[in-house]
Amino acid sequence: MKITFLGHASIQIQIGETNILVDPFISGNPKASHININNLKADYILVTHAHQDHILDVEAIAKRTGAVIISNFEIVTHYQNKGIEGHPMNHGGSWEFDFGRIKYVNAIHTSSFPDGSYGGQPGGFVIEGERKNIYIAGDTALTYDMKLIPLQTKLDLAILPIGDNFTMGIDDAIIASDFVECDKILGYHFDTFGYIEINHEAAKRKFFDKDKDLMLLEIGESIEL
Ligand code: NI
Ligand code: MN
Repeated sequence: MKITFLGHASIQIQIGETNILVDPFISGNPKASHININNLKADYILVTHAHQDHILDVEAIAKRTGAVIISNFEIVTHYQNKGIEGHPMNHGGSWEFDFGRIKYVNAIHTSSFPDGSYGGQPGGFVIEGERKNIYIAGDTALTYDMKLIPLQTKLDLAILPIGDNFTMGIDDAIIASDFVECDKILGYHFDTFGYIEINHEAAKRKFFDKDKDLMLLEIGESIEL
């Protein structure tokens, strides 16, 4: 499984031959100006919630690639009405896709579309790939529901928001990594705007002091699991 950070909360995941994009917000992110959305491959686009900083490039990429949207019922319906294919889910539900199993899990946040219309309830995704399992928390507060995840899935990586203000910050993300029982963390949802700027070295040190590994990738940088 190859994971590429595309800035903010945008992630690309390659599982075998399958390309999965998560929450593409690239063309509106000045820090990601070296990433061209017209070059991104996508068989599926996972959307955690309907906020602009998670859906900005969904429509353009889905229309170019024919990617299938995987999200909550309301978000999938929104895109189906634009002629885009989708697979609707809701909290607690899982489905076996051709690349692996996905469970749509709870997040504590909000989920309106940019025009104020209802975007369902926000979520995160647990992805069980061929050999590796990951958790993409989405925008969320620290929540006890995270403790449910390791009852069923042994995670190899937890992708957690760390920017604070709109989501968990560093200290809560450390507790979240305890709850999901995964000490390898990829931080996201930081530095994009003024409200969520963090001190990278201080953040890494805090995780390190708890025997955890916080990875902060450059935009465009990949890791292999
Ligand atoms: Ni949000
Ligand atoms: Mn966000």
